[in-house]
Amino acid sequence: MSGVDMKLDDWNQRWVDKRTGWHKSEVNPTLEKYFPTDAKPDTFFPLCGKTLDMIWVAEKGCKVRGAEFSQLAIDQFFEENSIENKEENGFRQSTSKSLDIGLKQGDFFEFPEGEKFALIFDRGSMVAVNPSDREKYAEKIKKLLRSDGKVLLSAISRDEEHLKNGPPFHLTLEDVKNAYEKIGMKVNLLGTYEDRSSLERLGLITINEIEITF
Ligand SMILES: C[S@@+](CC[C@H](N)C(=O)[O-])C[C@H]1O[C@@H](n2cnc3c(N)ncnc32)[C@H](O)[C@@H]1O
Repeated sequence: MSGVDMKLDDWNQRWVDKRTGWHKSEVNPTLEKYFPTDAKPDTFFPLCGKTLDMIWVAEKGCKVRGAEFSQLAIDQFFEENSIENKEENGFRQSTSKSLDIGLKQGDFFEFPEGEKFALIFDRGSMVAVNPSDREKYAEKIKKLLRSDGKVLLSAISRDEEHLKNGPPFHLTLEDVKNAYEKIGMKVNLLGTYEDRSSLERLGLITINEIEITF
């Protein structure tokens, strides 16, 4: 086990201190590569931060929902992207006709389970969860996934030298299998690449692009 456990308040403090080095100004390449072109899947972003991936998906006409603990992240998402919004049924919801994005402030593990999603995009989410909570995380994701849906996961493996710096925690294909196969899900490696874009912060990282289905 590597890294120091994070508490919810620690995450919020990162937003207060603007230590959000994970946030990207480009759309995630795994999402672009594997997003279904023949459907408009209702899409869920666990631990969503203010990722622009949500706008990319919503602009395709898909319903987007996200879970985020930090209210600051949610406020910044709508403000920085000039998306009109209102509070509705516990979600901060876009009001424009062309975008349907609703973000819920709170602990992901408490996210309501009434609605299920055809696609769950996991970048910066499972890798941010404390390793001791991975099984609980996989269980929760399973409850939010439609029986014919899939999870697309971008998992970071870190080099030896940077292993202790988590989060993001080192998350191998084996770790993902351990969490999801135990609860009867199928885990399939779609692709692997080396990512040098965060060399200073994380060292050389390997990204495993993983699909998880029932
Ligand atoms: C590493 S960031 C990744 C954000 C986003 N997925 C991205 O790729 O930009 C993890 C985010 O999860 C949030 N977070 C951490 N634990 C959470 C929890 N249990 N429930 C809801 N949000 C959480 C943090 O505030 C942070 O914004």
